Amino acid sequence: MTVRSPRRPFITTMPDIPEIRVAADSRQWAQDGARLVLEATTRAIETNGRCLMALSGGSTPKTLYERLATPEWSDAVRWSQIELFFGDERCVPPDHPDSNYHTALITLVRPLRLRADRIHRMEGELPDATVAARRYEDRIRSVAGSSAPAVPCLDLVLLGLGDDGHTASLFPDTPALSDNDRLVTVGQAAQGVRTRLTLTLDMINRASMIVFLVMGAGKAQIIGRLLQPKTEADRKLPAALVRPHQGHVIWLLDRPAAAALTTMSN
Ligand code: 6PG
Repeated sequence: MTVRSPRRPFITTMPDIPEIRVAADSRQWAQDGARLVLEATTRAIETNGRCLMALSGGSTPKTLYERLATPEWSDAVRWSQIELFFGDERCVPPDHPDSNYHTALITLVRPLRLRADRIHRMEGELPDATVAARRYEDRIRSVAGSSAPAVPCLDLVLLGLGDDGHTASLFPDTPALSDNDRLVTVGQAAQGVRTRLTLTLDMINRASMIVFLVMGAGKAQIIGRLLQPKTEADRKLPAALVRPHQGHVIWLLDRPAAAALTTMSN
């Protein structure tokens, strides 16, 4: 992989090489992320008349969601033509501070006054997570107009990255990683809210555009393992298994998160 000096934002756009964008600071990171969302959603709307988009959970995306809600971006993205899904959800009620839906509600949905019928949350509050996973699978199919066994393709999936290499709620060495007959499955986390709902790898890998949203020095080591793998274990990390069948992956990093990437002069 050729990684140019992070002194300036750079893009690698070689086939089968992950595209990496390093923003100079968090402000630029949010701007770059907002532009990626605008471009991907506009492309889908112009092609299909609407966009099927999945939001990432965790705390990192809040910086992007808040930027998308600013006047600079709020009218640019055609939210009324976007069906908003979630990549994963903790099994807690929707008003719980740990809920990914709650985070999106506070930082994006309410500020932009998005239509409730465009927001499709996972029902983390249901007592049986498997039932909740099946219900969400039905919801995705119903909105996408795609009945089994066809698998609907999302136009844009935003993903976060845990420092153990998990993404969405696909954690290392868990059964969810191989549950690819489904669109949605039950994930098991080692920390925090243990039981979670998550899109499967197969569902994620059918997306047209996948953007990993990663910031902070705490992610530098796992970014190095993922983007410059040295071992078989590196190559088997859950986030390393995100390899879209026909889509495109972009890694949007800030400089601290990119710090472990060895640069080669060009
Ligand atoms: C979740 C996420 C998870 C998250 C990573 C990174 O529900 O927690 O979907 O995959 O993106 O754990 O989380 P931070 O952005 O908070 O570091």
